[in-house]
This record gives sequence, structure tokens and C-alpha cells, in this order.
Amino acid sequence: MKLSTFHPDSSEEVIDLYTQVFGDAEGESEGKVIGHLVSEILTTTKPEDLFGFVAAIDHQIVGCILFSKLTLANNTEAFILSPVAVDTSHQGQGVGQALINFGLEALKDKGVELAFTYGDPSYYVKVGFKPISESCIKAPLILTYPEGWLAQSLTGSEIEAIEGESFCVDALNEQSYW
Ligand SMILES: CC(C)(COP(=O)(O)OP(=O)(O)OC[C@H]1O[C@@H](n2cnc3c(N)ncnc32)[C@H](O)[C@@H]1OP(=O)(O)O)[C@@H](O)C(=O)NCCC(=O)NCCS
Repeated sequence: MKLSTFHPDSSEEVIDLYTQVFGDAEGESEGKVIGHLVSEILTTTKPEDLFGFVAAIDHQIVGCILFSKLTLANNTEAFILSPVAVDTSHQGQGVGQALINFGLEALKDKGVELAFTYGDPSYYVKVGFKPISESCIKAPLILTYPEGWLAQSLTGSEIEAIEGESFCVDALNEQSYW
């Protein structure tokens, strides 16, 4: 398996991957919703506000993760991981964890201080995320599943409370995703 930085030449392949994976996991219409979300993230986010990473086997992309900028009130450098997809037939083989760890290392090298995600804590604790309260750092939209608000420090320091609002990129700024 080869892990690498996402390149826009692979946009179509990556959108198809998300559509297929979420279609298999949660039904065809959810697959289309997430495929559309990924397309919006890739086309509307400023390049400096987006990091993508892919896992490939025999030149075929079998996993993808996207991190987009989360603007915090005190300007701590932060990104949010969302969404994540591993090809249905390659799930449960460590691809997701390897890809997320690879992405987090790359973010650390770029000076990113905090990584967030919003998902199943039982999965994301495996790659270092921990539940975080909104009284510590507010989410950008209303959380329908507050247990899924997760973060990790990439600097080795403890996460400190930040007062004020947080803002995500436009593509994620849609209540139905939260
Ligand atoms: C969730 C997902 C990204 C995990 O990737 P993966 O490559 O299959 O996972 P890995 O092989 O790295 O990790 C497997 C471990 O995670 C657990 N796991 C996998 N999917 C899980 C899920 N949805 N919830 C909780 N745990 C999960 C497995 O039980 C396994 O645990 P173990 O290591 O203790 O045996 C992948 O299954 C996927 O794309 N699913 C459909 C889309 C989705 O739900 N994306 C996440 C939301 S954005």
C-alpha cells in the first residue's frame, strides 16, 4: 500500500470512492450526499485550507481522508478531519488507521497544532482523538451528536480552552452534516 498526498488530478476517482463507500455503508442516497460534499470541499476550499491524503494499492485509490481548516477564536492553527472513506472490500485491514496517522504526521510537520474530527469515538480513539467538550472548544455548528466531537493536540501540549466561536470552511458549513 502506498500513502501519499492527494492531488487534484485524482478528484473524480476520490469523489467516486466516497460515493461508493458511503452508498455501501449507509445507502445510495447518503453515498450521493457525501460524494457531493467531497466535490464541494475539493472545488470551493482554498488550497492552503485543505489537506488530502490517499492510500493506493496497485495504483488504485482505496482510501482517502480530507482535512480542512477550522478557524478558532485565538487563531490556533487547527484542521478538521472529515470525511474519511476506505474502499468497502479493503476495510478492517488497517488502511484507515495508517492513512489517518500518515495525515496527522504531515499536518504536524506543517505546524498544525490541533486536529479535530466529528465521528464515532470508538474508531477515532485508535488514532489519538479524544472527546472534547464544547465548553472547552466550540464546534462551528450545532452538534446533533456531541459525543462525536473529538480533538487531539499535535504539539504534545494539553488542549487548553478557547473562548469564542469556531468556523469551518464553506463546504462543511451546512447544518445537515452536523
Ligand atoms: C470507518 C472506516 C474509515 C475505517 O477504516 P478501516 O480501514 O476499515 O479501519 P481500520 O482497519 O484502520 O481499523 C479497524 C478497526 O476499527 C474498527 N472500526 C472500523 N470501522 C468502524 C466504525 N465505523 N466504528 C467503530 N469502529 C470501527 C474495527 O472494529 C477495527 O478495530 P480493531 O483494530 O480493534 O480490530 C471505514 O470502515 C469506512 O470507510 N467506513 C464507511 C464510511 C465511514 O463510516 N466513514 C467514517 C465516517 S466519516
